[in-house]
Amino acid sequence: MADEPSNPLQRPLPSGIVPQDEVDRTEKRWLIIMVGMLALMMAIVVVTSIAHALHPPSNVEPTDPVTLHLQGEFVESNLGTALEPDGVTVRLIAQQFSFVPNCVKVPANTPVKFRLTSADVVHGFILVDTNVNTMVVPGFVSEVRTSFATLGDYRMPCDEFCGLGHQGMWARVVVVLKDQFPSLTPEQRTNCVSDVSQ
Ligand code: CUA
Repeated sequence: MADEPSNPLQRPLPSGIVPQDEVDRTEKRWLIIMVGMLALMMAIVVVTSIAHALHPPSNVEPTDPVTLHLQGEFVESNLGTALEPDGVTVRLIAQQFSFVPNCVKVPANTPVKFRLTSADVVHGFILVDTNVNTMVVPGFVSEVRTSFATLGDYRMPCDEFCGLGHQGMWARVVVVLKDQFPSLTPEQRTNCVSDVSQ
């Protein structure tokens, strides 16, 4: 090396030992990379929380969980399946530890809009074998739009841990023929008990 003669006291390093200044340089380089990664991750967290994550997954619609059963869209008489101009709307309340109502019928090949809210804690709404999946947060309405091409029973377990009875909290959606649906009474649309006994 060129600087060896200028410092005769410096002995050559044993093989396998990295010189101190090279260690310093490498440490500094990795420090810069780590700080850069941290800054990038913090920026992603801040940007996505401002732009996307400060609200429930679907739409921001506040509601008062304390007066759900007394007034507004989620009073008991309004729950279940309703035929509306743009398709079928299903209104459900999630509460520890059930969905109300716990079975709804919807027609096949029809736009179906699920509107849910929670009366207490955060619950999960998922329809097995479909891509329907959202959180149900008290104080907000969660809305999911879908349509069913296949007839049958879709299980609907709560998929957000909500307390000691969580594993027993589930409901189902029964998809019936499109032509059959209008002839069902509102009672039959939100009650599947008669089907079970047949
Ligand atoms: Cu409701 Cu888990």
